[in-house]
Amino acid sequence: MKKHLLFLLILLISGTITCQKASIKLPEYDIEKSALSDHAMVVSPHPLASEIGVEILKKGGNAVDATVAVQFALAVVYPRAGNIGGGGFMVFRQADGSIDAIDYREKAPAAASRDMYLDAEKNIIEGLSTKGHLASGVPGSVDGLIQAHEKYGVLDFKTVIQPAIRLARKGFQVTETEANRLNQFKDAFSEYNTDDSPFIQTEEWVPGHELTQTNLAKTLKRIRRRGREGFYAGKTADYIVAEMQLGNGIITKQDLAAYQGQWRKPLTRLYKDYKIISMPPSSSGGVALLQLMEMVEQYPLAKYGFHSSEAIHLMAEAERRVYADRAEYLGDMDFYPVPIDTLLDSIYLQKRMSDFSETAASLSDSTKAGKFKLLKESFETTHTSVVDADGNAVSVTTTLNSNFGSKVLVHGAGFFLNNEMDDFSSKPGEPNQFGLIGAEANAIQPAKRMLSSMTPTIVEKNGELFLVLGAPGGSTIITAVFQVIINVIEFGMPLDEAVSAARFHHQWLPDMLTIEREGFDEATKTALQELGHQLREVNRMAVIKAIQRLENGQLHGAGDPRNPDDSAKGY
Ligand code: DON
Repeated sequence: MKKHLLFLLILLISGTITCQKASIKLPEYDIEKSALSDHAMVVSPHPLASEIGVEILKKGGNAVDATVAVQFALAVVYPRAGNIGGGGFMVFRQADGSIDAIDYREKAPAAASRDMYLDAEKNIIEGLSTKGHLASGVPGSVDGLIQAHEKYGVLDFKTVIQPAIRLARKGFQVTETEANRLNQFKDAFSEYNTDDSPFIQTEEWVPGHELTQTNLAKTLKRIRRRGREGFYAGKTADYIVAEMQLGNGIITKQDLAAYQGQWRKPLTRLYKDYKIISMPPSSSGGVALLQLMEMVEQYPLAKYGFHSSEAIHLMAEAERRVYADRAEYLGDMDFYPVPIDTLLDSIYLQKRMSDFSETAASLSDSTKAGKFKLLKESFETTHTSVVDADGNAVSVTTTLNSNFGSKVLVHGAGFFLNNEMDDFSSKPGEPNQFGLIGAEANAIQPAKRMLSSMTPTIVEKNGELFLVLGAPGGSTIITAVFQVIINVIEFGMPLDEAVSAARFHHQWLPDMLTIEREGFDEATKTALQELGHQLREVNRMAVIKAIQRLENGQLHGAGDPRNPDDSAKGY
């Protein structure tokens, strides 16, 4: 018996093991969670994507070229969230300090309507906004990436999309995490797809299994050849519309042709010697983060100490108030007059904290709430942080929403469609899959963007680039970005520790303080309960990818141990 085990071990170590498939080579990805470099850095959720980012940077590409290459590569190697069928947000800071942002969030199709997910009694029809063809918004990723590249890229587009085409066509070995996800969603794939999907197979996925995506490679080639027209018109558009007709989908050719990403002015705010630069609506991330930073600025967080009940209580109480504002006032500002100036006004924010008590938790006013949903524990979006050798920085978060989005793979075109319509408020006061509620500001309207929590962020210190960060994690993205910034600035933690440290989250409703199971001591938990917080433990929350520019000019990249595939690579 021992001999057999030894033999198995030798096979494993040598990288060759015979499983259900003949001779599967275990992937030997070189994954560094924490890396230092002298010139440039890429942190993404997959080692192959980070490698491609560095490859493009070494070819003379800038941070935007590398980002675009990484995003297309993630659409191949990270199919559960990397995408061309979803949308996202990108924040840039050029080396000269100028900043810009593009919002390429999905939009509701023209045939969408406010009550489209309600039954005759105006109750939400479970699952309609999360699974299947009707759950998708009009994808924004391809337009956003192409616009970003046209405005800021220096390499030609063919060069930056080529590595993704290569990976889709030739295949790559899935990691253990990806294999597990593919197995976990096997039934859903079969429910919503025909059997030409490369994701549907009789055997279990195992690490090292080759995934080749011929149809996706063809779609990427059409994009390489025709730019945005390769996706929003012609064959790819035909495939998307035909797929819609296989189910209850409503995206039309006109919706696709009309889609445009939107350039926006990033939101900025000073916090002590630091300037926080983040994403305006249609993400709530920037407004909420800036509110949080200002609300806690006057308190002695460093003196309270990392993970002290005082610090957690203060930050959680700020979070409670910010998520209440989010539910009421945030939505797509092209459709709803989001009162950004008021929400970020110092006097308003002081007033919001005027009923904060150091000795007792507040109560979330639940009068507006319907039934509650607890936060889910699956956090599948992608974030990528990039700094190039000239000091240009990009922070980009993109998603299909849930794992593999709506689970619908566009037949013939090889990519998953998002289920982003669930980020709208389908009915005032009713929670979406993240337990978030909303109101008029985020009601469904044709061509409107659904509210997001994605928070791609860049921080300056005394006018110089300091941090680039963001995360997947649904509603916990905002509070994770907030806590990592505070961990670095106030608690003086090295970036990798700041990223891996256990996190907490309050989102107003449900009125509970969610904490990660590992990492909080019993005394702190008891102290928080005595203050009146109802604690709920989860395994993990948002998954940060960050880069810090150190005082000696080096770059410190940190992937998150919460995702085994997060990879920091520099040169
Ligand atoms: O835009 C948003 O806020 C969500 N669609 C993000 C989804 C996400 O992070 C997935 N993880 N659970």
